[in-house]
Amino acid sequence: MKSANTSKELYRQLRALPWERLWKDEVQKFDRAAARDRFERVSVVRAVGVVFPESGPAAQRDEVREWLRRLLHDPEEKIRRYAMAALPKIGAGAGDEAELLTLLRTGAGEREKKYLGRTLDKIGGEATLEALAETGALGVRTEQKVKASIARSQAPSAVVLGAEIADFRGLRIHLRGRAGLEEIVREEVEANGKFSVLDVQPGLVAITAQAPFALSDIFALRCFGTVGIVLGVAKSGGGSVSPDAFAAVIASPQSRRLLGALTRGTIRYRLEFVAKGHQRAAVREIANRAYALCPQILNDAREAPWAVDIHPAADGESVELRPRISPDPRHAYRLDDVPAASHPPLAACMARLAGRQENESVWDPFCGSGLELIERTRLGGVKRVFGSDLSAEAIAIAGRNFSAAQLGAVATRFARCDFRDFPDLEKLPPHSLTLIISNPPLGRRIPIRNLRGLFEDLFATAAKLLAPGGRLVFTNPFHMESPEPSLKLQSRRSVDLGGFECRLESYLKRAR
Ligand SMILES: C[S@@+](CC[C@H](N)C(=O)[O-])C[C@H]1O[C@@H](n2cnc3c(N)ncnc32)[C@H](O)[C@@H]1O
Repeated sequence: MKSANTSKELYRQLRALPWERLWKDEVQKFDRAAARDRFERVSVVRAVGVVFPESGPAAQRDEVREWLRRLLHDPEEKIRRYAMAALPKIGAGAGDEAELLTLLRTGAGEREKKYLGRTLDKIGGEATLEALAETGALGVRTEQKVKASIARSQAPSAVVLGAEIADFRGLRIHLRGRAGLEEIVREEVEANGKFSVLDVQPGLVAITAQAPFALSDIFALRCFGTVGIVLGVAKSGGGSVSPDAFAAVIASPQSRRLLGALTRGTIRYRLEFVAKGHQRAAVREIANRAYALCPQILNDAREAPWAVDIHPAADGESVELRPRISPDPRHAYRLDDVPAASHPPLAACMARLAGRQENESVWDPFCGSGLELIERTRLGGVKRVFGSDLSAEAIAIAGRNFSAAQLGAVATRFARCDFRDFPDLEKLPPHSLTLIISNPPLGRRIPIRNLRGLFEDLFATAAKLLAPGGRLVFTNPFHMESPEPSLKLQSRRSVDLGGFECRLESYLKRAR
């Protein structure tokens, strides 16, 4: 126990050293030390693996790598293991792979093989695959990892949005998003007509297709956050779900068909336990078993085009296939962003909640990067768009994003000012707007003096500028009734804005 603490303490000290001192003093001391001392100072090797990538000069990389390679032949197994762990962090190359494979072939012990496997998981290539076929020494984990990394470096794979899913019957699709918005998502699905709604739960709308469809049909819907095609439910049979049960779903015939049809290039997926955080051991176990069942489907945490998400379900764990497409094709217009930008599906939900009138004049008093204005304009019927924001940067971004969205002949005016000054600045007469839609500052990231007063002013400005029949749609952090008798509450729902409850409200301007 004492020595574990001592070596931890030594590592802590070495890790805090500037690179120059670590390399010149400590590494030399280590090299010159007698065998027993070297063993005790092995933390130097670990510290080099951490400090060099952070602050070592690139010109010294070969020298450091050479040193680590020499250590791979140290008589002391522990030193060899530490060198193996540090090599990939320095940026190992083909020569290192050959060196490691020689060690593997010349009879490393079981524990050393495990470490060799971990290093080859990270740096192995074709030569490792050959050695695996020949010796069978390292097992499926390394084989799968190396195959995935070769595939990743040769040709990036991608989700094919336009491919038809002919086998649509009985396929359950989960549209997930912020809790509180489900009814708006449901309404959008029903209006679209290609899918029908099976079930609605907090943050989840389950749908199914009416006919063959493509993923692009799902991405025509704008109000959901993420989409998962349910591959199946891994059943628990009483206790926790076994890795074999998960693997059987991931490698099922249906999963193979879907992944085959919807992927260009090698099929790679990342496995995520959505509600449980990192579950490294479980992920490894499931991935190995799924690979044994279907070696064409590779688990790969890096740049994988698919995620296989595991969500708790009533009768086990729901295993769902989620395309990882970045940027989301629905938001290709977002050339730029502001720090407090709205969640895009929330902006789309707000636009649908506002609904469409003809020849609309729409204002977002706190427009930020312009998402609500863009989402509303996409629904049609908009003639004029106004945006105001205190930030000059936000105003420039909103203008650029709006142009990039290519929404046709709509007159736009974006101005940097306090929203209270905007009507005078733009000479907007009373009753000249049909819709005010906004995600105002909520005072969470940047404190706002008299935030409640800001919302009262928003009500007052809206009451003045909206024409009878016009609407005010916004997110309200306060439990407050409209202080303006002419603004009548139409709907109010609690929405989760990322761990923070807010109300999404819509008001109608009355004639009097
Ligand atoms: C939640 S963000 C809006 C995000 C926006 N909907 C988007 O899509 O990016 C709120 C915005 O209100 C602006 N703001 C804060 N106080 C303001 C005020 N008094 N008048 C105008 N804009 C204000 C902030 O600069 C910020 O960009």
